[in-house]
Amino acid sequence: MARILLTGGAGYIASHTAVALVERGHHVVLLDNFANSERDVPDRLRRLTGKLFPVIEADIRDVKAVTDAMQAFPVDGVIHFAALKAVGESEADPLLYYDMNIVGTIRLFEAMQQANVRRLVFSSSATVYGQPDHSPILEDAPTRVNNIYGRTKLVMEDLIRDLARTGKLLSAASLRYFNPVGAHPSAMIGETPSGVPNNLMPYITQVATGERPHLNVFGNDYDTPDGTGVRDYIHVMDLAHAHALAVEHIIAQDVSLTVNLGTGVGISVLELVHAFERATGRKIPLNIAPRRPGDVTSYYANPAMAEAILGWKAKLNVDDMCRDAWRWQAKRAGINDV
Ligand SMILES: NC(=O)c1ccc[n+]([C@@H]2O[C@H](COP(=O)([O-])OP(=O)(O)OC[C@H]3O[C@@H](n4cnc5c(N)ncnc54)[C@H](O)[C@@H]3O)[C@@H](O)[C@H]2O)c1
Repeated sequence: MARILLTGGAGYIASHTAVALVERGHHVVLLDNFANSERDVPDRLRRLTGKLFPVIEADIRDVKAVTDAMQAFPVDGVIHFAALKAVGESEADPLLYYDMNIVGTIRLFEAMQQANVRRLVFSSSATVYGQPDHSPILEDAPTRVNNIYGRTKLVMEDLIRDLARTGKLLSAASLRYFNPVGAHPSAMIGETPSGVPNNLMPYITQVATGERPHLNVFGNDYDTPDGTGVRDYIHVMDLAHAHALAVEHIIAQDVSLTVNLGTGVGISVLELVHAFERATGRKIPLNIAPRRPGDVTSYYANPAMAEAILGWKAKLNVDDMCRDAWRWQAKRAGINDV
């Protein structure tokens, strides 16, 4: 049993990870500045799990506050989720992204050094692969970031490798997520994008609730079976479980690893829409729009390394993802016939 600090602990993936960790008997401390999360998430987690979660409201760039938190709640390791994550915003405001993601991570690591916390799991992203030569993608594929958000992830991965190589971190796992979707089946926690969603699933669910008139499909002339872009969608509960296994692994051993977290199954935009319609009985009106610059044709993971090292494999399929995403969004929209 370990005590783990989650930075960005009230966010989408962290909140699901908190549930997975307590279900495996661990203690969880949440640290968040609530820049992109709702303040009642810790209370919802308490109702969902029956456990109390200490909450530290702080910015990861505040070394003193984060050091104090780790001294007040001595932890065995940190899972570092806190970051800004919108590609378009990163291109519009590069300094904001370098400051929040890279300076923020350096400040967090300073605090960890002061509190002598030397084990880390880090939220990286498959975006570091850019336009891959082929899929499934292995971890040793070239990294070719094509936006500032992706660059910040790659810089942080390099920083973590250097800290592990020089013994400043005893162990570290950089987890490259593919496309997280879905929500806890209770519909008590989920994804809360502010404004127009950047990602496909929240957009689909908002069309289904009537908040948006139709789904724009950006390009139907890609070199894929139905012409639409192919991605590797992964249920957030599977992703959360992988974090629990990763943290247990890096606490048990002094290792440094970088692993893909995906299902290994490529799903096109139209396949996802049809799966959603099947799972929910709701029709999604479509508008075929031109391709967006920078969009990648197809990418999906080779997740074999995660299975070999962590004993992890995604268990939930696209129907589960659609059902749980819809349950969450419908509840928020006050729709009860789900
Ligand atoms: N959701 C995805 O599609 C996806 C894909 C790949 C990687 N990731 C990465 O996973 C991590 C979590 O993503 P998410 O989707 O849960 O995002 P999220 O926005 O829901 O969660 C991030 C949390 O961090 C907090 N935060 C942001 N800046 C902070 C700061 N300076 N100090 C303290 N807290 C801060 C936010 O308030 C939020 O609660 C991020 O690092 C993201 O880049 C996400």
